[in-house]
Amino acid sequence: MQCSDSPIRFDWPRKINEIPKEVFVRADIYREEIRRIFHGPEWHPLAHVSELPEPGDFKTLTIGATPVIVMHGDDGQIRVFANTCPHRGTQLETASRGHARSIECPYHRWAFNTRGELMGAPGVQEFPASFRKQDYGMWVLRSAQFCGMVFATLDANVAPLDEYLGETREYIARAFGGDGNLRLLGYQKVSFATNWKEYSDNEGYHAPLLHRAFRLLKWQGGAGSQFMTSRAHKVIAAELSHAPDSGFLHDHSLIEVFDKSKAPQSIVVSLFPVSLILHHLDVITVRYALPVSQDETEVHYTYFARADDSPELLQHRVRQASNLLGPSGLISLEDGAVFNRLHVGARTGGIAAFQKGVQDNMGLPTSLKQNDEAGNLVRWERYRQAMGFERV
Ligand code: FES
Ligand SMILES: [Fe+2]
Repeated sequence: MQCSDSPIRFDWPRKINEIPKEVFVRADIYREEIRRIFHGPEWHPLAHVSELPEPGDFKTLTIGATPVIVMHGDDGQIRVFANTCPHRGTQLETASRGHARSIECPYHRWAFNTRGELMGAPGVQEFPASFRKQDYGMWVLRSAQFCGMVFATLDANVAPLDEYLGETREYIARAFGGDGNLRLLGYQKVSFATNWKEYSDNEGYHAPLLHRAFRLLKWQGGAGSQFMTSRAHKVIAAELSHAPDSGFLHDHSLIEVFDKSKAPQSIVVSLFPVSLILHHLDVITVRYALPVSQDETEVHYTYFARADDSPELLQHRVRQASNLLGPSGLISLEDGAVFNRLHVGARTGGIAAFQKGVQDNMGLPTSLKQNDEAGNLVRWERYRQAMGFERV
């Protein structure tokens, strides 16, 4: 059956826990996801204000296929621009991060200030009389902030950010230490040979099973909680405790909790469609996940400290950050291999079948445990509807 507004003919299984693996490998589906989801009515986290502390600081990344620049203007405002010259469309900035007093396009040297306004264009006296500089500023995207996190959208009609984030706001604030007063520690950028949905399907079920080092933190008991919001964002909150006799570590100071004022010690906010905000022990991290193609997902692991940390806590966070939760971290190392293997395995076609926490395979779960995988089915239902795929 073909949904009337979808250009892609696709029969979606009737059972709620069955996901057709074709969606991980088909280029036509990927292109439609970019159009409907990434360029559609979603807010995308792009930067924390602490990544751009000074006027003139900027970073570049993408929203779906759209290149963007996040820039701290000389008026103190942080704006999100499309990374394209308003003249003929040259990509304006190629550095992933930097500092600039202005942005000059290399092609014909049009120059823009840090607010995105066109300052000058060579040969302007020979432009048509109707040319007005104010009509050729950089394209400003709709953006909003929560707890210092800068989000942007390409859709004019998406709900206000606070409404969109819903109950995740409390957990994002807790992950950032309450007021979001952070300081950037650094980045690790990784390209995974996987589809963005295989990346975002990571859940609590696998955590103590794939990652043997999770024994260090006694996650196995699954004593925490998990819930999904109405916009299909996922929140997992858990208390962690040490298992000092795990046999994994000689020096257990690596997994100590220095900042005991924060509870729970593990908060995972998995925003639809794909990026994550985490607080694990003393690690504060945002994983900006960027789809590159149906076969590739780039993830920018970004680590933070609190701006008011003591020198000792700062050192502890630097040591714990990527060592615990980075792409080769103690409790996250194996994910990359599984993302890759999921993607290879998806080429067979057929069904990926969720089971853990599924109460009724004809209906979405009504309650979830920390270690369930069924929460992701709420996201899949949102995905199916966004894509216009109908169940057979
Ligand atoms: S394309 Fe940028 S100045 Fe011409
Ligand atoms: Fe994992």
